[in-house]
Amino acid sequence: MKKNISVIEGDGVGPEVIKQTIKVLNSIAIKYGHDFHYKNILAGSKAIEKLGDPMPKETIDNCLKSDAVLFGCVGDPKYDHNPIGMRPEDGLLKLRKKMNLYCNIRPVVVFPKLNKSPIKKKLLNKVDFIIYRELTGGIYFGKKGRYKNGEEAYDYCTYSKTEIERIGEMAFKASLHRKKKVTLVDKANVLETSRLWREVIKKISLDYPDVHLDFLYVDHASMQIIMNPKKFDIILTDNMFGDILSDESSVLTSSLGLLPSASIGNCKCMFEPIHGSFPQAKGKNIANPLGCILSGSMMLEYFGMYQEKNILEKAVKNSIEKKICTPDIIDSKLSSTTEEVGDYIEKYIISQ
Ligand code: IPM
Ligand code: MN
Repeated sequence: MKKNISVIEGDGVGPEVIKQTIKVLNSIAIKYGHDFHYKNILAGSKAIEKLGDPMPKETIDNCLKSDAVLFGCVGDPKYDHNPIGMRPEDGLLKLRKKMNLYCNIRPVVVFPKLNKSPIKKKLLNKVDFIIYRELTGGIYFGKKGRYKNGEEAYDYCTYSKTEIERIGEMAFKASLHRKKKVTLVDKANVLETSRLWREVIKKISLDYPDVHLDFLYVDHASMQIIMNPKKFDIILTDNMFGDILSDESSVLTSSLGLLPSASIGNCKCMFEPIHGSFPQAKGKNIANPLGCILSGSMMLEYFGMYQEKNILEKAVKNSIEKKICTPDIIDSKLSSTTEEVGDYIEKYIISQ
Protein backbone atom coordinates (compact mmCIF):
# COMPACT_ATOMS: atom_id res chain seq x y z
CA MET A 1 0.00 0.00 0.00
CA LYS A 2 1.21 3.49 -0.76
CA LYS A 3 0.72 6.17 1.87
CA ASN A 4 1.75 9.82 1.98
CA ILE A 5 2.53 10.85 5.53
CA SER A 6 3.11 14.44 6.62
CA VAL A 7 5.67 14.56 9.42
CA ILE A 8 5.88 17.37 11.94
CA GLU A 9 8.83 16.79 14.25
CA GLY A 10 8.09 19.92 16.25
CA ASP A 11 10.02 21.07 19.29
CA GLY A 12 12.00 19.68 22.21
CA VAL A 13 12.31 15.91 22.02
CA GLY A 14 9.95 15.78 19.01
CA PRO A 15 12.67 15.15 16.38
CA GLU A 16 14.22 12.36 18.49
CA VAL A 17 11.02 10.39 19.03
CA ILE A 18 9.85 10.92 15.44
CA LYS A 19 13.18 9.59 14.14
CA GLN A 20 12.71 6.32 16.02
CA THR A 21 9.09 6.05 14.88
CA ILE A 22 10.00 6.44 11.21
CA LYS A 23 12.78 3.91 11.61
CA VAL A 24 10.28 1.41 13.01
CA LEU A 25 7.61 2.20 10.40
CA ASN A 26 10.20 1.69 7.68
CA SER A 27 10.97 -1.78 8.98
CA ILE A 28 7.23 -2.54 8.78
CA ALA A 29 7.11 -1.12 5.24
CA ILE A 30 10.02 -3.32 4.14
CA LYS A 31 8.57 -6.44 5.72
CA TYR A 32 5.07 -6.01 4.31
CA GLY A 33 5.92 -4.34 1.00
CA HIS A 34 4.37 -0.94 1.75
CA ASP A 35 5.47 2.33 0.31
CA PHE A 36 5.44 5.05 2.98
CA HIS A 37 6.37 8.52 1.74
CA TYR A 38 7.23 11.05 4.41
CA LYS A 39 7.24 14.78 3.98
CA ASN A 40 8.79 16.85 6.74
CA ILE A 41 6.94 20.07 7.37
CA LEU A 42 7.30 22.93 9.81
CA ALA A 43 5.19 23.86 12.82
CA GLY A 44 5.70 25.15 16.35
CA SER A 45 8.74 27.19 17.32
CA LYS A 46 10.75 26.32 14.20
CA ALA A 47 7.93 27.73 12.09
CA ILE A 48 7.76 30.84 14.28
CA GLU A 49 11.48 31.37 13.77
CA LYS A 50 11.51 30.75 10.01
CA LEU A 51 8.11 32.03 8.93
CA GLY A 52 6.73 34.03 11.85
CA ASP A 53 3.75 31.68 12.28
CA PRO A 54 3.42 28.53 14.46
CA MET A 55 1.18 26.91 11.85
CA PRO A 56 1.93 28.19 8.34
CA LYS A 57 -0.63 27.74 5.56
CA GLU A 58 1.72 25.45 3.58
CA THR A 59 1.86 23.09 6.55
CA ILE A 60 -1.93 22.95 6.86
CA ASP A 61 -2.36 22.42 3.10
CA ASN A 62 0.18 19.65 3.16
CA CYS A 63 -1.52 17.90 6.09
CA LEU A 64 -4.92 18.16 4.42
CA LYS A 65 -3.57 16.48 1.28
CA SER A 66 -1.76 13.62 2.99
CA ASP A 67 -3.09 10.23 4.10
CA ALA A 68 -2.03 10.87 7.70
CA VAL A 69 -0.04 13.26 9.84
CA LEU A 70 2.60 12.07 12.27
CA PHE A 71 3.20 14.70 14.92
CA GLY A 72 5.99 14.88 17.52
CA CYS A 73 5.23 17.64 20.00
CA VAL A 74 5.34 21.42 20.24
CA GLY A 75 6.14 23.89 22.99
CA ASP A 76 9.09 26.02 23.98
CA PRO A 77 9.28 28.13 27.14
CA LYS A 78 10.98 30.82 25.04
CA TYR A 79 7.59 31.66 23.50
CA ASP A 80 5.45 31.40 26.64
CA HIS A 81 4.76 35.14 26.56
CA ASN A 82 3.91 35.42 22.88
CA PRO A 83 0.53 36.97 22.08
CA ILE A 84 -2.60 34.82 21.55
CA GLY A 85 -2.23 32.71 18.42
CA MET A 86 1.55 33.02 18.31
CA ARG A 87 2.65 30.33 20.74
CA PRO A 88 3.84 26.95 19.42
CA GLU A 89 0.84 25.26 21.12
CA ASP A 90 -1.53 27.58 19.23
CA GLY A 91 -0.13 26.09 16.03
CA LEU A 92 -1.16 22.60 17.12
CA LEU A 93 -4.64 23.78 18.09
CA LYS A 94 -5.04 25.51 14.74
CA LEU A 95 -4.07 22.35 12.88
CA ARG A 96 -6.51 20.22 14.90
CA LYS A 97 -9.26 22.70 14.07
CA LYS A 98 -8.40 23.09 10.38
CA MET A 99 -8.29 19.33 9.92
CA ASN A 100 -11.48 19.03 11.99
CA LEU A 101 -9.95 16.33 14.18
CA TYR A 102 -12.75 16.26 16.69
CA CYS A 103 -12.16 12.82 18.16
CA ASN A 104 -8.98 12.22 20.13
CA ILE A 105 -8.44 8.62 21.17
CA ARG A 106 -6.01 7.96 24.02
CA PRO A 107 -5.57 4.33 25.09
CA VAL A 108 -4.29 3.73 28.60
CA VAL A 109 -2.79 0.27 28.93
CA VAL A 110 -0.59 -0.94 31.76
CA PHE A 111 2.30 -3.18 30.70
CA PRO A 112 2.59 -5.81 33.45
CA LYS A 113 6.40 -5.75 33.50
CA LEU A 114 6.66 -2.07 34.43
CA ASN A 115 6.69 -0.91 38.02
CA LYS A 116 7.55 2.77 37.97
CA SER A 117 4.01 3.79 38.83
CA PRO A 118 3.59 5.16 42.35
CA ILE A 119 0.18 3.44 42.47
CA LYS A 120 -0.14 0.09 44.29
CA LYS A 121 0.55 -2.82 41.96
CA LYS A 122 -2.64 -4.70 42.88
CA LEU A 123 -4.71 -1.81 41.51
CA LEU A 124 -2.93 -1.84 38.17
CA ASN A 125 -3.34 -5.41 37.04
CA LYS A 126 -5.24 -5.52 33.69
CA VAL A 127 -5.90 -1.79 33.47
CA ASP A 128 -7.01 -1.11 29.91
CA PHE A 129 -9.25 1.81 29.03
CA ILE A 130 -9.52 4.43 26.33
CA ILE A 131 -10.18 8.12 26.72
CA TYR A 132 -12.33 9.62 23.97
CA ARG A 133 -11.49 13.30 24.25
CA GLU A 134 -13.39 15.89 22.23
CA LEU A 135 -10.66 17.87 20.49
CA THR A 136 -11.95 20.83 18.53
CA GLY A 137 -14.42 22.52 20.86
CA GLY A 138 -15.01 23.63 24.42
CA ILE A 139 -12.95 26.09 26.40
CA TYR A 140 -9.88 25.52 24.20
CA PHE A 141 -11.59 27.15 21.25
CA GLY A 142 -14.05 29.60 22.80
CA LYS A 143 -13.58 33.32 22.55
CA LYS A 144 -10.81 34.43 24.89
CA GLY A 145 -9.26 37.69 25.89
CA ARG A 146 -8.78 40.39 28.47
CA TYR A 147 -10.65 43.45 29.60
CA LYS A 148 -10.22 46.14 32.28
CA ASN A 149 -6.69 46.99 31.15
CA GLY A 150 -5.70 43.34 31.13
CA GLU A 151 -6.74 42.83 34.74
CA GLU A 152 -9.64 40.53 33.88
CA ALA A 153 -9.55 37.60 31.51
CA TYR A 154 -12.12 35.26 30.00
CA ASP A 155 -12.25 31.94 28.14
CA TYR A 156 -15.69 30.90 26.92
CA CYS A 157 -16.66 27.26 26.93
CA THR A 158 -19.27 26.35 24.33
CA TYR A 159 -20.48 23.07 22.85
CA SER A 160 -23.10 22.34 20.23
CA LYS A 161 -25.30 19.26 19.99
CA THR A 162 -23.57 18.30 16.74
CA GLU A 163 -20.10 18.53 18.29
CA ILE A 164 -21.16 16.20 21.10
CA GLU A 165 -23.04 13.79 18.84
CA ARG A 166 -20.21 13.08 16.44
CA ILE A 167 -17.69 12.04 19.11
CA GLY A 168 -20.43 10.32 21.13
CA GLU A 169 -21.24 8.08 18.17
CA MET A 170 -17.57 7.18 17.79
CA ALA A 171 -17.21 6.28 21.46
CA PHE A 172 -20.34 4.09 21.46
CA LYS A 173 -19.29 2.33 18.24
CA ALA A 174 -15.86 1.62 19.71
CA SER A 175 -17.40 0.26 22.90
CA LEU A 176 -19.19 -2.46 20.90
CA HIS A 177 -15.78 -4.03 20.25
CA ARG A 178 -14.76 -3.77 23.88
CA LYS A 179 -16.53 -4.22 27.22
CA LYS A 180 -19.61 -2.27 26.10
CA LYS A 181 -19.27 0.35 28.77
CA VAL A 182 -19.09 4.11 28.31
CA THR A 183 -18.49 6.54 31.17
CA LEU A 184 -19.32 10.15 30.46
CA VAL A 185 -17.11 12.40 32.56
CA ASP A 186 -18.36 15.94 33.06
CA LYS A 187 -19.22 18.57 35.64
CA ALA A 188 -22.98 18.54 35.17
CA ASN A 189 -23.59 19.72 38.73
CA VAL A 190 -22.08 23.07 37.74
CA LEU A 191 -21.65 23.54 33.99
CA GLU A 192 -24.42 24.05 31.43
CA THR A 193 -22.23 22.59 28.67
CA SER A 194 -21.94 19.42 30.75
CA ARG A 195 -25.73 19.24 31.08
CA LEU A 196 -26.01 19.42 27.30
CA TRP A 197 -23.42 16.62 27.01
CA ARG A 198 -25.56 14.44 29.31
CA GLU A 199 -28.73 15.09 27.32
CA VAL A 200 -27.14 14.33 23.97
CA ILE A 201 -25.20 11.27 25.11
CA LYS A 202 -28.24 9.77 26.88
CA LYS A 203 -30.13 10.07 23.62
CA ILE A 204 -27.37 8.37 21.63
CA SER A 205 -27.26 5.55 24.17
CA LEU A 206 -30.85 4.59 23.23
CA ASP A 207 -29.47 3.33 19.91
CA TYR A 208 -26.97 1.13 21.77
CA PRO A 209 -29.09 -0.91 24.20
CA ASP A 210 -26.23 -3.35 24.86
CA VAL A 211 -23.85 -0.63 25.98
CA HIS A 212 -23.88 0.36 29.61
CA LEU A 213 -23.67 4.14 30.06
CA ASP A 214 -22.75 5.76 33.34
CA PHE A 215 -21.86 9.27 34.44
CA LEU A 216 -19.17 10.66 36.71
CA TYR A 217 -18.34 14.18 37.73
CA VAL A 218 -14.79 14.98 36.75
CA ASP A 219 -13.57 15.56 40.31
CA HIS A 220 -14.83 12.14 41.33
CA ALA A 221 -13.57 10.52 38.13
CA SER A 222 -10.07 11.82 38.77
CA MET A 223 -10.13 10.03 42.11
CA GLN A 224 -11.60 6.82 40.67
CA ILE A 225 -8.91 6.68 37.97
CA ILE A 226 -6.33 6.33 40.71
CA MET A 227 -8.34 4.23 43.18
CA ASN A 228 -10.20 1.91 40.89
CA PRO A 229 -8.82 2.21 37.34
CA LYS A 230 -10.06 -1.24 36.28
CA LYS A 231 -13.65 -0.08 36.37
CA PHE A 232 -13.21 2.03 33.23
CA ASP A 233 -13.51 0.90 29.65
CA ILE A 234 -14.31 3.97 27.56
CA ILE A 235 -14.16 7.40 29.13
CA LEU A 236 -15.96 9.97 27.01
CA THR A 237 -15.28 13.59 27.87
CA ASP A 238 -14.76 17.14 26.68
CA ASN A 239 -11.56 18.78 25.51
CA MET A 240 -10.28 20.21 28.78
CA PHE A 241 -11.23 17.31 31.06
CA GLY A 242 -9.77 14.85 28.55
CA ASP A 243 -6.48 16.72 28.52
CA ILE A 244 -6.18 16.62 32.30
CA LEU A 245 -7.42 13.06 32.81
CA SER A 246 -5.08 11.66 30.17
CA ASP A 247 -1.98 13.01 31.91
CA GLU A 248 -3.33 11.72 35.20
CA SER A 249 -4.01 8.29 33.68
CA SER A 250 -0.47 8.07 32.37
CA VAL A 251 0.69 7.74 35.99
CA LEU A 252 -0.94 4.29 36.04
CA THR A 253 1.25 3.18 33.14
CA SER A 254 4.55 4.38 34.71
CA SER A 255 5.26 7.25 32.30
CA LEU A 256 3.64 9.98 30.27
CA GLY A 257 6.15 8.98 27.60
CA LEU A 258 4.27 5.75 26.92
CA LEU A 259 0.91 7.11 25.84
CA PRO A 260 -0.03 7.40 22.18
CA SER A 261 -3.00 9.10 20.60
CA ALA A 262 -4.98 9.23 17.39
CA SER A 263 -6.99 12.28 16.36
CA ILE A 264 -9.70 11.51 13.87
CA GLY A 265 -12.04 13.68 11.84
CA ASN A 266 -14.06 13.00 8.70
CA CYS A 267 -11.45 11.20 6.57
CA LYS A 268 -8.56 13.09 8.18
CA CYS A 269 -6.22 11.85 10.86
CA MET A 270 -3.20 12.72 12.94
CA PHE A 271 -1.14 10.61 15.31
CA GLU A 272 0.85 12.04 18.20
CA PRO A 273 2.20 11.02 21.59
CA ILE A 274 0.41 12.75 24.44
CA HIS A 275 3.60 13.99 26.07
CA GLY A 276 4.78 17.52 25.61
CA SER A 277 8.06 18.77 24.17
CA PHE A 278 10.05 18.01 27.37
CA PRO A 279 12.64 20.75 26.63
CA GLN A 280 14.92 19.69 29.53
CA ALA A 281 15.57 16.37 27.76
CA LYS A 282 16.13 17.76 24.27
CA GLY A 283 19.20 16.32 22.54
CA LYS A 284 20.05 14.03 25.48
CA ASN A 285 18.86 10.81 23.86
CA ILE A 286 16.78 9.95 26.95
CA ALA A 287 13.22 10.65 25.80
CA ASN A 288 10.90 7.66 25.67
CA PRO A 289 10.06 7.00 22.00
CA LEU A 290 7.29 4.49 22.80
CA GLY A 291 4.42 7.03 22.97
CA CYS A 292 5.31 8.15 19.47
CA ILE A 293 6.01 4.63 18.16
CA LEU A 294 2.65 3.42 19.53
CA SER A 295 1.00 6.41 17.83
CA GLY A 296 2.55 5.00 14.64
CA SER A 297 0.88 1.73 15.47
CA MET A 298 -2.49 3.49 15.79
CA MET A 299 -1.80 4.92 12.34
CA LEU A 300 -1.24 1.40 10.94
CA GLU A 301 -4.56 0.34 12.46
CA TYR A 302 -6.28 3.34 10.86
CA PHE A 303 -4.81 2.25 7.51
CA GLY A 304 -6.34 -1.19 8.08
CA MET A 305 -2.89 -2.78 8.48
CA TYR A 306 -3.84 -5.01 11.40
CA GLN A 307 -1.07 -7.58 11.12
CA GLU A 308 1.46 -4.77 10.92
CA LYS A 309 0.01 -3.10 13.99
CA ASN A 310 0.12 -6.37 15.91
CA ILE A 311 3.74 -7.04 15.13
CA LEU A 312 4.71 -3.51 16.09
CA GLU A 313 2.93 -3.83 19.41
CA LYS A 314 4.49 -7.22 20.00
CA ALA A 315 7.89 -5.66 19.38
CA VAL A 316 7.17 -2.89 21.89
CA LYS A 317 6.04 -5.43 24.50
CA ASN A 318 9.15 -7.44 23.87
CA SER A 319 11.42 -4.42 24.31
CA ILE A 320 9.77 -3.79 27.69
CA GLU A 321 10.04 -7.43 28.73
CA LYS A 322 13.73 -7.45 27.77
CA LYS A 323 14.16 -4.18 29.70
CA ILE A 324 15.33 -2.19 26.69
CA CYS A 325 13.79 0.96 28.11
CA THR A 326 14.51 4.64 28.62
CA PRO A 327 15.17 5.88 32.18
CA ASP A 328 11.61 7.08 32.81
CA ILE A 329 10.39 3.48 33.03
CA ILE A 330 13.39 1.58 34.33
CA ASP A 331 16.23 2.04 36.80
CA SER A 332 18.50 4.60 35.14
CA LYS A 333 21.61 2.44 35.67
CA LEU A 334 20.07 -0.23 33.43
CA SER A 335 18.43 2.07 30.92
CA SER A 336 18.86 2.33 27.17
CA THR A 337 18.88 5.46 25.03
CA THR A 338 16.03 6.69 22.83
CA GLU A 339 18.01 5.50 19.81
CA GLU A 340 18.71 2.05 21.29
CA VAL A 341 15.04 1.46 22.01
CA GLY A 342 14.21 2.32 18.38
CA ASP A 343 17.01 0.07 17.09
CA TYR A 344 15.83 -2.85 19.21
CA ILE A 345 12.23 -2.58 18.00
CA GLU A 346 13.34 -2.22 14.39
CA LYS A 347 15.52 -5.35 14.61
CA TYR A 348 12.81 -7.32 16.36
CA ILE A 349 10.34 -6.57 13.58
CA ILE A 350 12.81 -7.52 10.86
CA SER A 351 13.69 -10.76 12.67
CA GLN A 352 10.07 -11.96 12.88
C1 IPM B 1 -2.07 17.48 24.57
C2 IPM B 1 -1.28 18.72 24.88
C3 IPM B 1 -1.89 19.89 24.13
C4 IPM B 1 -3.32 20.05 24.61
C5 IPM B 1 -1.10 21.21 24.27
C6 IPM B 1 0.33 21.07 23.82
C7 IPM B 1 -1.77 22.33 23.54
O1 IPM B 1 -1.21 18.95 26.25
O2 IPM B 1 -2.16 17.10 23.40
O3 IPM B 1 -2.58 16.87 25.51
O4 IPM B 1 -3.56 20.69 25.64
O5 IPM B 1 -4.21 19.54 23.94
MN1 MN C 1 -2.12 17.41 27.44
